[in-house]
Amino acid sequence: MSLIICLLFASTLQIQFHQSVAAGPEVKPSHLQDPHDASSWPGHLKPLGSEATHLPILELNQFPSPTEFFQHYVYPSVPVVFRHGARRSPAYEKWSDEYLKSLPESQEMINVEMRKVENRNIPPARMSFAEFLDRYTVYDEYLVTGVPDFLKKDVLVPPPLLCDNITVNFLDSVMWFSSGGTKSVLHNDDVDNLNCLFSGQKEILFVNYTKYRHQIVFDHPEGSFSGVDVERVDFNKYPEFRDVEFFEAKLEAGDCIYIPYKWYHQVNSIHRNIAINIWWNHKANIIPTPVTCGNPDPELSLADVRFYYHDLMNNEEEEIIHPELVFVENPGQSLTTFMEEEGKEILTENQLVGILSTKLPMLQGVWNQEALDIGHKIFQQIDMDDNGEISSQDLEQLPNEQEGEGPFGLRLQQKLMMLIDVIDEEISKTREKQLQKMLANAIVTDSDILSSSQEDSKLVGTVDETKSDKDEL
Ligand SMILES: *[C@@H]1O[C@H](CO)[C@@H](O)[C@H](O)[C@H]1NC(C)=O
Ligand SMILES: *[C@@H]1O[C@H](CO)[C@@H](O)[C@H](O)[C@H]1NC(C)=O
Repeated sequence: MSLIICLLFASTLQIQFHQSVAAGPEVKPSHLQDPHDASSWPGHLKPLGSEATHLPILELNQFPSPTEFFQHYVYPSVPVVFRHGARRSPAYEKWSDEYLKSLPESQEMINVEMRKVENRNIPPARMSFAEFLDRYTVYDEYLVTGVPDFLKKDVLVPPPLLCDNITVNFLDSVMWFSSGGTKSVLHNDDVDNLNCLFSGQKEILFVNYTKYRHQIVFDHPEGSFSGVDVERVDFNKYPEFRDVEFFEAKLEAGDCIYIPYKWYHQVNSIHRNIAINIWWNHKANIIPTPVTCGNPDPELSLADVRFYYHDLMNNEEEEIIHPELVFVENPGQSLTTFMEEEGKEILTENQLVGILSTKLPMLQGVWNQEALDIGHKIFQQIDMDDNGEISSQDLEQLPNEQEGEGPFGLRLQQKLMMLIDVIDEEISKTREKQLQKMLANAIVTDSDILSSSQEDSKLVGTVDETKSDKDEL
């Protein structure tokens, strides 16, 4: 399975880590805590985040316009709950088991995960939608699949995404359906995510990626998740989870939530649970203004839009979203080719940085100190004999790992991801400025478009007042 899909379908790829948790030493009362003894830290061998500081997530009772959404939430990476935001979709009222079973298309085949506590080693099963509906209340099964075509018209595109400049960058849309009790691993996605809940409740723990990306570095970068047992955190094995602040969101049926690009999250579901999420490309040049948004139909549904991963993408195009992957899969080959083409015997650190810039074109212009430090570490990792230059002997000594998924490749990947983080932060800042500039122009030239597009984005059937209800959490 290709890397891109495992980054995205974090939950369909399986790796085993729930089976063997060593019984840890007894937990001491907190006043006896020893800072060096991880087993004395509060929360040791307890569920993830159970003894940690919890921060409230912002809540809105009204949808922002696409412009406001990107300005205040997407560019600065702020998670937000849209209370009752899913109620406008027909799915919210219509999707009972009886209704779903009555549809002739429910004979279509879908993917079903065979565990509710996420286990990335067990492959999903194929069965018909109807068969799943007969089984899911009895067996430990979790439907995780692209939204079946025959159900797409029941799910409306949330108003903050109603903008041509955004919808052309939709990547995929997935249905999550179970009788409750699912627990995901702690993971992140390198896409933006808006998730709407049509039945049941969800509890989502978030960790601020920007704040903790140096502290929490996944031991499974290939699938963008941590191997930590979310039901029983072993601080001896995962000391990075000490002193982490968690944001916590509690969703009810009819609510939606924005999960920012790369934010760590862990999702539990309660009761009969149906959610649909939309992933879109964080790296696309999205600047939603009244001009770039066009005038999309407010009733636009998932049936009216295309999803790049599902409908259009082939393997070669992975590179568009993950240019670094080609390099990680075979760094030795990439660098050898470069040196041959350029007629070079050795590479200096500066030259390696130059090559990384061509592999990651977004890096041009953003080689700040943090990026240079990471570039230095990448250089050191490849300079096998530590003599301050990369030669063909160094490259021959690089471990020959299948698709770069061995320990060497994983370490390299972790560093490239940090480099990409630096780029992403710079890009978000630039886009925010561009948006401000375009809005300033738009207000002068076309104030009418602006106000009408804001009106379209009001939530149907809720109060007309933006409220941030922090106390509830
Ligand atoms: C979105 O709009 C901006 C500003 O006009 C434009 O530069 C960019 O290419 C558009 N992006 C897409 C993906 O259409
Ligand atoms: C996340 O952390 C960064 C860095 O500490 C901070 O600037 C930002 O405000 C935080 N975001 C939220 C939503 O708290």
